[in-house]
Amino acid sequence: MIFSKSLARFSIFTLAILPASLLAQEKEENLLDGNPVHGRELFVSKSCIECHSVRGAGGSVGPDLGLKVFNRSVYEISGILWNHSPYMSRKMRQMGVRRPQFEPSEMLDLVSFLYFLNYFDPPGDVQLGRQLWVEKKCSSCHPVEGEGPKLAPGLDKMQSPTTSVFLAQSMWNHGSQMLETLRRMNLDPPAFRGTEMVDLVAYIRHINRNPSRQLFSLGEPRQGERLFRINGCASCHAAQGAARASAPDLRAARLQASVSQIAGLMWNHLPNMLSRMRQQQMRFPTFSGQDMNHLISYLYSLAYVGKPGDPQKGATVYREKQCLSCHGEPGKPGQRIGPDLAKATLQSPLGAAPFMWNHAVEMEGYMKERNILWPRFEGTQMADLQAYLKASAAKSK
Ligand code: HEC
Ligand code: HEC
Ligand code: HEC
Ligand code: HEC
Repeated sequence: MIFSKSLARFSIFTLAILPASLLAQEKEENLLDGNPVHGRELFVSKSCIECHSVRGAGGSVGPDLGLKVFNRSVYEISGILWNHSPYMSRKMRQMGVRRPQFEPSEMLDLVSFLYFLNYFDPPGDVQLGRQLWVEKKCSSCHPVEGEGPKLAPGLDKMQSPTTSVFLAQSMWNHGSQMLETLRRMNLDPPAFRGTEMVDLVAYIRHINRNPSRQLFSLGEPRQGERLFRINGCASCHAAQGAARASAPDLRAARLQASVSQIAGLMWNHLPNMLSRMRQQQMRFPTFSGQDMNHLISYLYSLAYVGKPGDPQKGATVYREKQCLSCHGEPGKPGQRIGPDLAKATLQSPLGAAPFMWNHAVEMEGYMKERNILWPRFEGTQMADLQAYLKASAAKSK
């Protein structure tokens, strides 16, 4: 799906094509699909954009959400929304903005949009890229406009789209050869930090004579997961929690850096990986088409679901945040000020979180009357709470 022009108000999203669904890590959690494209539309239609910008585009009453790194699970992000709810509600009232209500799937879509914000790189800097071209030794082999060494093709005539994903893919594919040649030339292999790869891409795009094909798309995490398995990545790396000693657990690594940063990390580990692969007599995987794109979006999506919530910890959260004092034991009869929460959570991918948001203003009133401070959620607390409510709901069914 390509965004229509009228909706493409965020510069970083104008070229993006996003998937309709994201990878759900846990089989039992497969409700956790979310649609960031729809989330992005909701960000506009639910008035978030009146107060928040995304990297400069939008209102300035609240923080610029494009500068935040939401490297957290979707539950944790919904917790952040909740934490800020009283303040936001007051601002909305002051500004005459109607406080939005969410269908359960709408909140998931919105939160998945926030999760993916950091995926996109800011535009690169051509001047920095020109310096990196020399610093990273690309100029030792590649000519520019016919000038320089002829050890490699001139990238000014490159046919493939000039995005960091495709650059990463080409460099990866010729990585083994390139490292070998550099060794013979007595040069260290280049490593990439931060968003250097984006600046390099900006420069290559600048010299490229075929700049029309620059469509950037977000790959399909599910496809990426398959590539991760069939190309032997999974034989060294754990991504689903099962620890392997030889390489980092990529889920624990929280790879929600932008595309170019992830591409840089993959590139940086090439020398180490190659020597280990040689020891283990593994075939070096090369990538074509959208492969690298799928792989990177898979790596990015690894923390999306997060660890499954712990119902027992959730019971403690429920008590400590005073939910118990108003809502009583979920699924059990008894006097209560607020409704029984066992009913609200089933059928909703984020559990009770969307209903919590919808009733936040009323609840705040009840809390004030009873001198209860607005409860805040940190870390896995929201996921634990929802796991507890879901377990209680399942028991009382
Ligand atoms: C009327 C203005 C207003 C509207 C509308 C609004 N917000 Fe906010 N938002 C704020 C302000 C102000 C803050 C800072 C509040 C604070 O520090 O507690 C904030 C904070 C946040 C934060 C926390 C950012 C951080 O620092 O971690 C998130 C996330 C957020 N808003 C998302 C949204 C979403 C999603 C919507 C649309 C449903 C929305 N906001 C609508 C004003 C608004
Ligand atoms: C040691 C020499 C060497 C260095 C250093 C080098 N390359 Fe290459 N590069 C090559 C060779 C040789 C090829 C052609 C490989 C092939 O055809 O399989 C190539 C191919 C490429 C391609 C694919 C071109 C196409 O038309 O598809 C890209 C993109 C690329 N290099 C980018 C870079 C960048 C960016 C740098 C600097 C970070 C760099 N290379 C550093 C030797 C080098
Ligand atoms: C032969 C073992 C091996 C294979 C196969 C392997 N890796 Fe790695 N990988 C490592 C090691 C070891 C590290 C630790 C960094 C280093 O030493 O350079 C690492 C680091 C990484 C990192 C950086 C993690 C961080 O936190 O910085 C990423 C991303 C990564 N690998 C992705 C992949 C992908 C994708 C594949 C499949 C194409 C793959 N790896 C295949 C051994 C391997
Ligand atoms: C001071 C009492 C009070 C506290 C504390 C409280 N709530 Fe509520 N809650 C209510 C009331 C009253 C309602 C109904 C509000 C309305 O009429 O809109 C409600 C509504 C809800 C709803 C919507 C239920 C539905 O069926 O749609 C959810 C979900 C919810 N609360 C969750 C929580 C959670 C989780 C906590 C603890 C973090 C909590 N509440 C703390 C009083 C409270």
